[in-house]
Parts: sequence; C-alpha cells; structure tokens
Amino acid sequence: MSFHAIDPAPARLNRSELAVPGSQPSLFEKAASSAVDVVFLDLEDAVAPNEKEQARRNIIAAINDIDWGNKTLSVRINGLDTHYMYRDVVDVLEQAGQRLDLLMIPKVGTAADVYALDMLVTQIEAAMQLQKRIGFELIIETALGMQNVTEIAAASRRNESLHFGVADYAASTRARTTVIGGVNPDYAVLTDPLGNQERQSHWGDMWHYALARMVVACRANGLRPIDGPFGDFQDADGYTAAAKRAAVLGCEGKWAIHPSQVALANAVMSPSEAEITQAKRILEAMAEAEKAGKGAVSLDGRLIDYASIRQATVMVEKAAQLSD
Ligand code: GLV
Ligand code: MG
Repeated sequence: MSFHAIDPAPARLNRSELAVPGSQPSLFEKAASSAVDVVFLDLEDAVAPNEKEQARRNIIAAINDIDWGNKTLSVRINGLDTHYMYRDVVDVLEQAGQRLDLLMIPKVGTAADVYALDMLVTQIEAAMQLQKRIGFELIIETALGMQNVTEIAAASRRNESLHFGVADYAASTRARTTVIGGVNPDYAVLTDPLGNQERQSHWGDMWHYALARMVVACRANGLRPIDGPFGDFQDADGYTAAAKRAAVLGCEGKWAIHPSQVALANAVMSPSEAEITQAKRILEAMAEAEKAGKGAVSLDGRLIDYASIRQATVMVEKAAQLSD
C-alpha cells in the first residue's frame, strides 16, 4: 500500500437514487415510502424556469413536513452559472437544513466550483448552528468536469460521491446520440470474415471510458461512484444490463428516473448470496493458508492470495452494510 491514506466518505447505502422533480409534489410521498436508498429532489433540469421558485418552496415544505424515515435526502441545486443557485442553497439550507443530508451539485467543472459551494454552505451551517454536516454529491457531466475529475474529487471534505450524468455528458462531448444512457449500434466492432465468411457486429459500451475514469477518481479519494440515468424506463432489461456493467466497474449505485427502476438498481447493487458465500470461502481458505505459513493457495482450481482477501472483504463488508 502507498503511505498516502485514503479517508472513506461516511458510509451510506446508495444502491438506488431516485430523481423527483421539485415541481411535482404529488410524487413526494410515494418517493418517501419507496424502497429507494437516496431521494434527490430536483431543482435543476427537470424543472422549467418559470417553476423554479415554486419548486424550491415545494421542496422546503416537503423536507420539513414529510416523514422520510431513514432515507438519505438530497436536493439537486441549479448550476453555478445560473442566478437560481444561491437562493437554492441559502433558502433550502436555512429553512430545511436540519433534515437534509446532501446537496447535489450539477455540471461541476472545476475544483473551484466545489470550493465556492463549500464556503457558502460552511457559512450557512455556522449561522444556523446546523448540527449535521451537509455532504456533497457531484455530477460529472461535462467535458470540463471529466478533464478535472481528479481535482474535483479531492476538492472538499464534504464530497461523498461522484455521479456520471450521461445525458449532459453526451451533449457536452457532442456524442452522436439523443437517448439517455444505453448503447448505440454505431459503437460496434465489425469482425473480419469468420470461417463461414459471415461478419459479426459486436456492440460496445460507448460510456465505458468515462465511467471507468470517474470510478478511479472516486476510489482514489474515498468517494462512492454512482452511475446516472437510463432514460428508457420501459426497458427493464436494458437498465439492468447498464447497472451490471457499472457495478462490475466498481459503481455502488445507479439513478432511477422512474420508480420502477428502484428495485432493479437495488437488486443489481446488492451482492448476491452466491457472491457472499464465495467471498466467505475465500477468507476461510486464506485463513487456513496463513496458518500453514502459505501466502497463496488454490481454491476450486484457481489461485487466491492476499489480494483475494481484500477483494473478498469488500464483498463481505457490503453484505454487512446491507444487513445493518
Ligand atoms: C444527469 O443529470 C444527466 O445529465 O445525465
Ligand atoms: Mg444533467
């Protein structure tokens, strides 16, 4: 290990994160009683400009009046380039800061964006004598944000997670797609002719690089990587496949832009019984190996060593977090 220590963000379940537009209060109660881990009440892109102020009032009332149980509660504020942002932060934190857990900051481009928000939030927390520190979830969804993702991840002690905002990222990088997340038939490898002269087209994942880069910045700074939206909420299989790809890369959760996606995210992002059992077997086998003075042994015909202990521990810790 490096001598450089990585402090993990406060532990929180973040398998699913439901987006709820602040302009639609009829959806709030349902979100509060759903099985989702994190709810974010949105003031940004799901709210039209002429509804911003009413949405802010709706959100403040909902945070104070609805029983959110033990759900993590977040508010997505407007971007730093808008005049809505300062009132989003000031009004929401002054009037509902006791219950709120996180602020979600969209389109973060530089570490200085996070610094500016940190300063404002720190002043409001002190003035209001808020007892609980507000954490930050930052959306990486522009070319600038992705270029600076390393510095952004390290920009504040409030940072808890980075989220891949695939729709805005596509717009910012001018990717040739108009759907939110998912795959694209043009992002494919055409094989050379095979034995029967047939050529096959193998679809790839056009978001792989961006997501993998964000995961590295997160894990190097103790943050949770969270995959963003999948727009086609009728396509449960497509959503599940995208969530699985993200989980395999190291993501801990995925957004739900429709309540039907919550159960899908929770299922994919929770380790299965088989994975937990296998992780425990690895730990037992390595404990036996250590007793016998060995650093590496074979389990089911495969090599396991001290790195396997660390991999298996991640899985077992995740299972323990779920049973808390
Ligand atoms: C989320 O905000 C996105 O742009 O995908
Ligand atoms: Mg966005």
